[in-house]
Amino acid sequence: MKKIVKGNAWLKAGLLAICAVVSLSAYALTEKQEAAVAERIKPVGEVCVEGDANCAAVVAVSSGPRSGEDIYNGSCMACHSTGAGGAPKVGDNAAWADRIATGQAALYHSAVNGVAGTGMIAKGGCMSCSDDEIHAAVDYMVENSQ
Ligand code: HEC
Repeated sequence: MKKIVKGNAWLKAGLLAICAVVSLSAYALTEKQEAAVAERIKPVGEVCVEGDANCAAVVAVSSGPRSGEDIYNGSCMACHSTGAGGAPKVGDNAAWADRIATGQAALYHSAVNGVAGTGMIAKGGCMSCSDDEIHAAVDYMVENSQ
């Protein structure tokens, strides 16, 4: 009888010790996992303050609006350097004079929305271009055609 009680006591102590170790290591694991989870779920678009070196990669990706020249070379040149489909060629001042006379707003409108019934489709087909980028491309074309 005495022996069994003693054995139980040891067993209890042993179990307690094991429990302590298990719960300790469980805690340590949880903390590790917590960090991993926090890393995984941290906001994708963390605010990036200009000049913050840690944000270099983000800044490189969103380098702001492209220049009018870039947009022209990428999306407008195909027609506007060749005159394809009756597009006024950049540098052909005569072809642009009447158009420029309609005013900047009219040209912006045509470029963003297209000219119905012509090869001039909305944004020259550049759906990833913002309105501002299209405006800059128009400015670039006008500057080089007058
Ligand atoms: C698929 C050929 C094509 C592409 C690409 C194209 N254009 Fe045009 N664009 C035309 C044609 C054709 C016209 C003449 C439309 C007309 O008859 O008034 C024109 C006319 C224009 C005009 C004059 C509109 C007016 O009201 O007189 C502007 C400004 C213009 N394009 C800007 C752009 C810009 C900016 C891009 C690039 C983002 C671009 N175009 C890409 C074919 C194109």
